[in-house]
Amino acid sequence: MYVTHTNLGDCMTARIIDGVALARSLRIGIADRVAALADKGVTPGLAVILVGEDAASAVYVGRKIKACAAVGIRSHTDRFAADISNEALLARIAELNADPAIHGILVQLPLPAHIDMARVLETIAVDKDVDGFHLYNIGGLVTGNTVFSPCTPYGVVKLLESEGVDLVGQNVVVVGASNIVGKPTALMLMAEGATVSICHVHTRDLAQYTIMADILVVAAGVPGLIVPQMVKRGAVVIDVGINRLPDGRIVGDVDFAGVSRKAAAITPVPGGVGPLTVTMLLENTVQSAERANAIAA
Ligand code: GUN
Repeated sequence: MYVTHTNLGDCMTARIIDGVALARSLRIGIADRVAALADKGVTPGLAVILVGEDAASAVYVGRKIKACAAVGIRSHTDRFAADISNEALLARIAELNADPAIHGILVQLPLPAHIDMARVLETIAVDKDVDGFHLYNIGGLVTGNTVFSPCTPYGVVKLLESEGVDLVGQNVVVVGASNIVGKPTALMLMAEGATVSICHVHTRDLAQYTIMADILVVAAGVPGLIVPQMVKRGAVVIDVGINRLPDGRIVGDVDFAGVSRKAAAITPVPGGVGPLTVTMLLENTVQSAERANAIAA
């Protein structure tokens, strides 16, 4: 058998973008900043609110708490029953807004259906909104003066930065248009000079868009959605999906093995974007404490 140019190309193996290693190095810098704050008598404080019994949420919150402890951020978790009233939840957020020892407030999503999520997120003080979900911070992504960037999109930006990707003039395609990942990621990459297309569940002929992408960001929540035929040779592929298969395996939205033979670089799942999401929460919390301390000084 002889090898043609085409299948030679198919043998290309993408560089695996190591989110664990990048997160580790960023967390070292964050821990140093926490130590510098400690010298001034300040300990960054994060308040986490978890409502109900969602198993995945409990796992995510557990990871955030552990990561806080590892860099010296003090965290406190309020666990409320799923039937908590809107008023009780809003009252607790108001207390945390007024507490000078708390620099960041995070309400883990999703919330039970009877809770008015928009009201909850808008009750969090803008300068403690370390998740970046307050309407002001989302609007700031459009105008360029956000107080906190949302953690997962911020992590995507950091991963691309670590790969030395210059976004100016690049074709970026974002698959998924959620408020917490797809839309803010698109805005942040556009702010870096990329030409951005956003695809979503109603997009016809998804492949027609994805094949154009120099950088493909996938946050659709559909395992195996992106197959090699949909990816431009040499693209950088960022897989934000976290899906649990019936056999218990955790996979992303991208056919990792297939697309690795075509892309120049790709994030694995797990071990790609996930560690960065938590890291950027730490970053935002420390930034908030630094700002509060600068104001108080
Ligand atoms: N649920 C899924 N992702 C997130 C996140 O980044 N922050 C919060 N608060 N809830 C989530």
